[in-house]
Amino acid sequence: MALGYLVLFGLSSLALMAFLFWTTNGLIARQTDDTIRAEITGLAEQYRRSGTTGLRNIVAERSRNQRSSVYLLTTPTGRILAGNLDGWPPVPTQADGWMDFTFERPVGQSTETHQARARHFRLAGDFQLLVGRDVQERIDIGSRVRQSLIWALALTVVLGLIGGVVMSRNMLGRIDAINKTSQDIMAGDLSRRVPVTGSGDEMDRLASQLNDMLAQIERLMTAMRQVTDNVAHDLRGPLSRMRSRMEVALMKKPEAGGYRDILEASIEDSERLLNTFNELLKIARAESGSEASDMKDLDLGTVARGAAELYEPVAEDKGLTLHVDIEAGVAGRGIEPLLSQAVANLLDNAIKYTEPGGHVTVRLAQGETGPVFMVADSGPGIPADQRDRVLERFVRLDASRSKAGSGLGLSLVNAVAQLHGAQLVLEDNSPGLRVTIRFPST
Ligand SMILES: Nc1ncnc2c1ncn2[C@@H]1O[C@H](COP(=O)(O)OP(=O)(O)O)[C@@H](O)[C@H]1O
Ligand SMILES: [Mg+2]
Repeated sequence: MALGYLVLFGLSSLALMAFLFWTTNGLIARQTDDTIRAEITGLAEQYRRSGTTGLRNIVAERSRNQRSSVYLLTTPTGRILAGNLDGWPPVPTQADGWMDFTFERPVGQSTETHQARARHFRLAGDFQLLVGRDVQERIDIGSRVRQSLIWALALTVVLGLIGGVVMSRNMLGRIDAINKTSQDIMAGDLSRRVPVTGSGDEMDRLASQLNDMLAQIERLMTAMRQVTDNVAHDLRGPLSRMRSRMEVALMKKPEAGGYRDILEASIEDSERLLNTFNELLKIARAESGSEASDMKDLDLGTVARGAAELYEPVAEDKGLTLHVDIEAGVAGRGIEPLLSQAVANLLDNAIKYTEPGGHVTVRLAQGETGPVFMVADSGPGIPADQRDRVLERFVRLDASRSKAGSGLGLSLVNAVAQLHGAQLVLEDNSPGLRVTIRFPST
């Protein structure tokens, strides 16, 4: 890649320099021609006014004073009348009247060969006039410029080469580091991260993006492992209970009876297992968002009131006061069975964990940012540092072990809230727990 760029860069520099050179050179050459033309116009004017004699005088005078011009005026027979050339140049005149030739210019004692460009002019009576300029200096400067350009190009290529090598080594080194990290990760070390140099360039941004992605994957893997562990742990209890119960039954004599009790207990256990699986599936479906297309406009008040009515007798049996405060006409968008289940889970918790004599409040109101649903109780509450953890699957606080439950209720509430784009907040109700779900406005 570096080499490719170098070639491209070199070619474009070359094109740019060549363009500059040719345009400047052409401009200077045109200027020379213009000067010669102007001089001829002047001389022609002189010729018209004072004839051959006048022209001869002025040519002779200019030949003496002008250092960089060349002149020659000859008779029809070729005799030199005036001028600073030794003779007519031995080159043919081009069709456009111009001629390019070399001549010997006296410099001090010796002479130098100089390049000249001149215009050949035929006067009336076959007199010949040649007016031109010494262009040796221009040619010298041109070749010196050309040389500098070649050096500049060589320098460009060398510097480009060095820069390219340094850059690509740097780049390749960092790509190598990424390769090494991914190999380590594939070998099983999920905690490895791509090194970040702190320069903040594209490679660094790529590296930190990759690291964020790896961190996310690691988090998900850990969560997944935990769920699997928890599922296994949770299902082992009922399954081994069923097994030992059946083993004990087999050891008894068939006539002994009591099979009915054993079967009933086993059905109860398998029911609990099935429930756990159903809850897990419900949570997984809600989390995957595959049901998002089932969203309908609905009256949240109806959903909340339905669940509250269902739990009213339960609360009463336990000696709890249930306050229901539902604003009329709070509309929302959602999946009704999932919302009902979430409200039921919250009410179930509030009633289950609050001691008799306490109270539970269900509230629905239209807030500033959208519908706000709340369940509060006067029970023991959840310590602030556990409020994130209880949302995970199978997490039950030690204080609640004596009560029946699977630890999946709040996980479903969380998944349902996320599916609806709602914000779930667990707070201190001092005393008790207050769970708020803030729905987005529709
Ligand atoms: N209203 C509440 N008051 C006190 N603790 C609660 C309350 N709701 C939930 N918790 C705690 O959070 C844990 C997780 O709740 P949840 O997911 O519904 O599982 P479960 O109710 O089956 O135990 C509970 O085991 C309990 O420790
Ligand atoms: Mg629960």
